Amino acid sequence: MRTVRTALIGCGKVGQIHAAALRELTESEFVAVCDRDSQRASAFSARFGVRAFTDVGDLLKEAAPQAVVVCTPHPLHAAAVIQAAEAGVSALVEKPMAASLADCDAMLAASAKAGTKLGIVSQRRLYEPVLRMKAAIDAGKIGKPVLGVFSMFSWRDQAYYGSDPWRGKWASEGGGVLVNQSPHQLDLLQWFMGQIDEISGFWANLNHPFIEVEDTALAMIRFKNGGLGSVVTSLSQRPGIYTKVHIHGDNGASVGVETDRGATFVAGVSEIAEPPLNDLWTIPGEEGLLPKFQAEDRARFRVINPTTHYHAMQIQDFLQAVRDDRPPLVTGEDGRIVVAMFTAIYRSNRERRPINFPLEAQG
Ligand SMILES: NC(=O)c1ccc[n+]([C@@H]2O[C@H](COP(=O)([O-])OP(=O)(O)OC[C@H]3O[C@@H](n4cnc5c(N)ncnc54)[C@H](O)[C@@H]3O)[C@@H](O)[C@H]2O)c1
Repeated sequence: MRTVRTALIGCGKVGQIHAAALRELTESEFVAVCDRDSQRASAFSARFGVRAFTDVGDLLKEAAPQAVVVCTPHPLHAAAVIQAAEAGVSALVEKPMAASLADCDAMLAASAKAGTKLGIVSQRRLYEPVLRMKAAIDAGKIGKPVLGVFSMFSWRDQAYYGSDPWRGKWASEGGGVLVNQSPHQLDLLQWFMGQIDEISGFWANLNHPFIEVEDTALAMIRFKNGGLGSVVTSLSQRPGIYTKVHIHGDNGASVGVETDRGATFVAGVSEIAEPPLNDLWTIPGEEGLLPKFQAEDRARFRVINPTTHYHAMQIQDFLQAVRDDRPPLVTGEDGRIVVAMFTAIYRSNRERRPINFPLEAQG
């Protein structure tokens, strides 16, 4: 198999980025799109030259893709993935994997039973400053990673929440800043720090009275390696300030990335305005490298479109995983950890106690 027959489910904002990549990548034979809104499906069909469907079952049967990319609202990810797996079709799913652990478990079980691949989008793992940090941590350059800090001070306005009826409501989104904007950095934090032992958390809605869900959340994490973590994630600062993940090691050295500056971009609506950069690098003997890294990252930002580049890289990895029968870069098991992290913060806030890992779905 040289190319993989591909289809897109969910022709909305981020769907545009996926469709463009599915059309361009040499690994992809892009055959069809599906949206329950027939006008959106038709518009994508005309724009990308593929067949249009309004029902996932019809798409799977008639277009016979080998892989689908799922870009529906988060609580609807599971149904599409399970339907695809039952038809023997692999799925790359937008973040978060799902809004509940029960959905994650059902997706993992369906994919395991069918022998299909399941991947979760976390394209910031492919940012060069992030890969530099991962390589340095894995090489032992900060010793044992013992303190991980994720902080986001960003902004969403009423128009953002009004842009789609599913946003900002418990039933149709499953949560707020934790579920929608934070999965990228929650994933990086656990990727850098390792397995989680327990989480305590709080959430609040500080200045978005027109949504039901949280605009701000805090968490304290104890990792299995004895290290600690902290999360402050908020959409309440106008204008948005920054989003960072910093990792400190037991030899005293630190590495960090500013993944986003200003209000985090809205895929399919705005462009990434500032390059992701390493903003902290105190590894002994490497202190002088930070300006060089930053210059490289600024130069790259001028020649690639970061809004589409890293998505395309992750889709390419997933299609190669399907073609070569190997695990994708970010697996369903990885995606479930992020859902467990925000589930634990909600549970801790509700039950006023630390929540132990591994975390099971509640009935
Ligand atoms: N990785 C990233 O940076 C990133 C960026 C933006 C969005 N996302 C994720 O992508 C997902 C979609 O977000 P969006 O902003 O594109 O939302 P959106 O509302 O713009 O698009 C969702 C689309 O799914 C369609 N849809 C809903 N139910 C369907 C069904 N059962 N079958 C087929 N189509 C259906 C809707 O009609 C809509 O067109 C979310 O999970 C979001 O978190 C990820």
